[in-house]
Amino acid sequence: MTALDHAIDYDSAAYARANRLDPHHLRQVTEAFPDLAGMHLLEVGCGRGHLLRLMQDAGAKASGVDLNPQAIAQGEANDMAVASATHLPFPDAHFDGLVSVHAIEHLPELDTALAEMVRVVRPGGRLLLIYPAEPIQGIWAVPTAVILHRNPFKARQVHCHKLTPKRLRVRLADLPVTVRYERFRWRGWPQYTSVLDRRA
Ligand SMILES: C[S@@+](CC[C@H](N)C(=O)[O-])C[C@H]1O[C@@H](n2cnc3c(N)ncnc32)[C@H](O)[C@@H]1O
Repeated sequence: MTALDHAIDYDSAAYARANRLDPHHLRQVTEAFPDLAGMHLLEVGCGRGHLLRLMQDAGAKASGVDLNPQAIAQGEANDMAVASATHLPFPDAHFDGLVSVHAIEHLPELDTALAEMVRVVRPGGRLLLIYPAEPIQGIWAVPTAVILHRNPFKARQVHCHKLTPKRLRVRLADLPVTVRYERFRWRGWPQYTSVLDRRA
């Protein structure tokens, strides 16, 4: 981990407790990975592991990592570990696929993290990234800023990127991935999905 990983301190039991499952995300996983059973998957920023558990229940051989040790301690799935998206403790091409839900907008070193996420997926594999569609950067992170820092004005440090599929494509330009599809949907709050195919 680096100093930038700690620009916001995610070590919080209260933040871990606030983490809830959105069942709709499993539908997005099964759309991106129709042959989920038996797949070797990594979830980055898995929180307490609600989605991870559902993927495991569906037969995936899935592991999860999160920067918040309290989320891992309260984990509801198997194979969860504390790790940063910027330093994934796995060899190259280790996974068939990677899932990351409402996490990439939190990463100060986003380019490093994206390179790491692509690195651990095998050529021919796939990445599913879900992230908020914010009309104003940080607007959906105000509750998190209050939980973590009792300070709503830190919301832009929590959501340190205002991402769109187009902006994400620019960041991915030098990485061996091809955009398979992108979606916008309103689900509690507006959010984007980008699904990427890992090239050789
Ligand atoms: C909004 S929560 C989303 C949790 C879960 N994916 C979900 O959809 O419920 C963002 C998560 O990203 C984690 N996170 C923040 N920075 C991280 C990093 N550098 N590496 C891994 N996880 C990180 C936080 O601890 C938190 O659990």
